[in-house]
Amino acid sequence: MIPQSFVQDLLNRLDIVDVVDRYVPLKKAGANYVACCPFHSEKSPSFSVSPTKQFYHCFGCGAHGSAIGFVMEHQGLGFVEAVGELARSAGLTVPKEESGHYERKTEGDFEALTEAMQHATHYYRDELKRSEGAIAYLKKRGLSGEIAARFGIGYAPGGWQNLATVFSDYQAKSLVQAGLVIEGEGKRYDRFRDRIMFPIINQKGAVIGFGGRVLETGEPKYLNSPETPLFEKGRELYGLFQARQAIRAAGKVIVVEGYMDVVALAQHGVEYAVATLGTATTPVHVQKLLRQTDNVVFCFDGDTAGRKAAWRALENSLALVGDEKSIKFLFLPQGEDPDSYIRKEGKAAFEAQLESAMPMSEFLLRELAAGVDMQTMEGRAHFLKLAQPLVQQVAAPALRMMLQQRLSELAGVTRNELEGLIPVKSTVKPAATRSRPSRKPPSLARKLLQLLLVQPELGADFDLSLLGEGSEELKTLSALLGLVAASHSQSTTTVAVLESFRGTSHEALLSEVSGEILQWDEEFEVAEEFAGALEQLKKSGRQRRIESLLALSRVQGLSPEEKQELQRLLQGGSAPTNSAQSTQK
Ligand code: UTP
Ligand code: MN
Repeated sequence: MIPQSFVQDLLNRLDIVDVVDRYVPLKKAGANYVACCPFHSEKSPSFSVSPTKQFYHCFGCGAHGSAIGFVMEHQGLGFVEAVGELARSAGLTVPKEESGHYERKTEGDFEALTEAMQHATHYYRDELKRSEGAIAYLKKRGLSGEIAARFGIGYAPGGWQNLATVFSDYQAKSLVQAGLVIEGEGKRYDRFRDRIMFPIINQKGAVIGFGGRVLETGEPKYLNSPETPLFEKGRELYGLFQARQAIRAAGKVIVVEGYMDVVALAQHGVEYAVATLGTATTPVHVQKLLRQTDNVVFCFDGDTAGRKAAWRALENSLALVGDEKSIKFLFLPQGEDPDSYIRKEGKAAFEAQLESAMPMSEFLLRELAAGVDMQTMEGRAHFLKLAQPLVQQVAAPALRMMLQQRLSELAGVTRNELEGLIPVKSTVKPAATRSRPSRKPPSLARKLLQLLLVQPELGADFDLSLLGEGSEELKTLSALLGLVAASHSQSTTTVAVLESFRGTSHEALLSEVSGEILQWDEEFEVAEEFAGALEQLKKSGRQRRIESLLALSRVQGLSPEEKQELQRLLQGGSAPTNSAQSTQK
């Protein structure tokens, strides 16, 4: 037997999109990736792979599962062989049966790393107070002590092994893993030396990385933490933790390029800015941002590099915007970045610039038109050819429609001609229009199933007595809850659930439900929805109990206890059968 914990770690390490793509080339479509299903014959793709939920599902034949399941099915391998194959590709060794215990690394590691980062942050912050040079530098850049404190800015002094005096065990593996210390030729030394330290904080408030700036000139200007188990550049946004409230209050977020831009904007009262970390804007970034607010403004330098970066951001946004969302692009005058601009011109001028930012649709059409000669038929044909695939990615149906309209106007053809040109029907329908296969709202049990499949740990303290009985959905729901309860503190993932029920009577239903959640918006407030559904479930439980008590009273009368219970229920109290404390709002 391969330990279950190893299988989990393996699945955590792999990205199913990479795995499937090795065998079946995938194409991006909305939040997911699609291809023609390798398990049945078809002409248009109904095989979907979810990067966030890490499973695949075919709407045509119902095939579904994790990366491991995929390799099994596709390569005709057994479980052990498939795990072996994937472990090799991920650089892991499958623990041997005889050696027995497989030490689950990840959780302890995370703790050790987080602690090390925390400790280092304190140290750097204390050092800043002692370093006149560093303080003078920050002052020169217009930052107050208050802002430095808000961002936890610190200073890593010169010298090769300062951290040896800070950590009791400088040789600890975690220091290298956290990226604080570099190991070279048997010797260890601090990664960050004589640099201003910008802690990168995740959404839970933990420091997961640093950006370190040289004080004056030197290479590299910014030295960043390497990718570690805590820190993945493509997922993180600098300043998001500090900005969350301001983003809500302002109803928008600005995305800038640099640490100093975020900090300087905050210094001038624009507190709703975040920065990517020297990488292109990824879909994960866009998702994270759109989860915070409906209005995102990308602010880039006006130069070629800035426009290129903006284009990347646009490409990664198209499939993620809904019609209620707005994504805009602001290009600052040549040679300015948000830091220099706001220092020179002030908050009001900067916010006026924001107001005049270019809507995504306009940026899209302008950039494309700029690359061709719109005066010639050939140029306009080229323009259509470039624009069409991008416009089709747009997830917002109304915006997509208007873009199509505008495209046809710009190219001088009618909508019908445009549609005739590109057989829209035969391509994958954009996620948004597919998202609701059935109009009927799902039953409460089904809703709970869906939510639990997205976030199984929500079911950890579920009171099973709340569930009535009967339907298939209820049976599967209680089986799923049983699984979650049995896995205790170990977090269970969607794929783990799907894999656990492979070959059982629950498989078909779970497959259906996994198809449904595949279409969901990424990470909306699942926990909130779950709480709502639970409340509804309690209510309907109360209602059922009331009805049965009333029926009983008609037939044979009620005992004093039953009478009391009925009275309590009718007054909106909770049924004594479930956790009695739950009161109504
Ligand atoms: P910039 O070079 O535009 O620097 O890099 P900046 O933000 O204006 O910084 P100041 O004002 O000179 O202090 C933008 C971002 O690119 C990444 C960093 O995330 C930086 O904030 N970067 C830049 C690096 O990671 N390494 C570098 O050497 C330079
Ligand atoms: Mn700058």
